[in-house]
Amino acid sequence: MIDTIQLYSKEIEKYITELAQLRMEVFYEFPYLYEGSLEYEKKYLSRYISASDSMVVLLKDGDKVIGMSSCLPLEEEEEAFRKPFENEKIDISKVMYFGESIIKKEYRGHGLGKEFFSLRERHAKRVVQNLLFTAFCAVEREKDHPLRPMNYRALDKFWKSQGYEKNQNLKVLYPWCDRGEELESYKSLSFWLKNWS
Ligand SMILES: CC(C)(COP(=O)(O)OP(=O)(O)OC[C@H]1O[C@@H](n2cnc3c(N)ncnc32)[C@H](O)[C@@H]1OP(=O)(O)O)[C@@H](O)C(=O)NCCC(=O)NCCS
Repeated sequence: MIDTIQLYSKEIEKYITELAQLRMEVFYEFPYLYEGSLEYEKKYLSRYISASDSMVVLLKDGDKVIGMSSCLPLEEEEEAFRKPFENEKIDISKVMYFGESIIKKEYRGHGLGKEFFSLRERHAKRVVQNLLFTAFCAVEREKDHPLRPMNYRALDKFWKSQGYEKNQNLKVLYPWCDRGEELESYKSLSFWLKNWS
């Protein structure tokens, strides 16, 4: 039995260590290849804690956190994520930004990923007046990346099935440390949007 818990703004703080550990575990894998640190994680998650309309969906199997998904109004995101929308003259006050969707491997494929979308979209409609877009971004990796597993399935089909389309004009460069790297490098991320107008 998996419990689904919705945490809002400051309520997220209680789980910061578990969320950080889960992010580091899942994002270590392709395509994120993220060499995480608790320090980076705390900084990243702090914006969800201080945002007034953020939400994290937490999945628990007993005491164990096995999945999480986040969102906050784009206005409350950091500048790097707001900028591509502003450049395209999109009213950021009408956009809800979806952060990560992550589930431990052994719990995937049971509909929890879809539930993440429906809960975050419901929250978006509640807190964003005249909602125009819900949006998230995904890292772009070369097709022949040496660390791409042979059996890797891109999630594009899943996202399209949830009503999202990749937008060719909205991209962001964002830095993190790849596995084995000592210094951060910039990755290109593309935005995927669902139109609610
Ligand atoms: C994204 C993620 C949360 C989806 O969770 P999930 O529990 O597998 O999702 P669901 O069970 O609701 O399945 C969603 C659909 O996508 C498909 N799917 C699931 N995992 C997939 C994968 N790795 N590749 C391609 N399709 C996949 C499923 O078949 C399902 O489609 P269907 O209903 O037509 O069969 C999970 O795959 C994950 O944690 N991935 C690693 C982290 C990541 O890359 N997150 C996305 C960016 S933040």
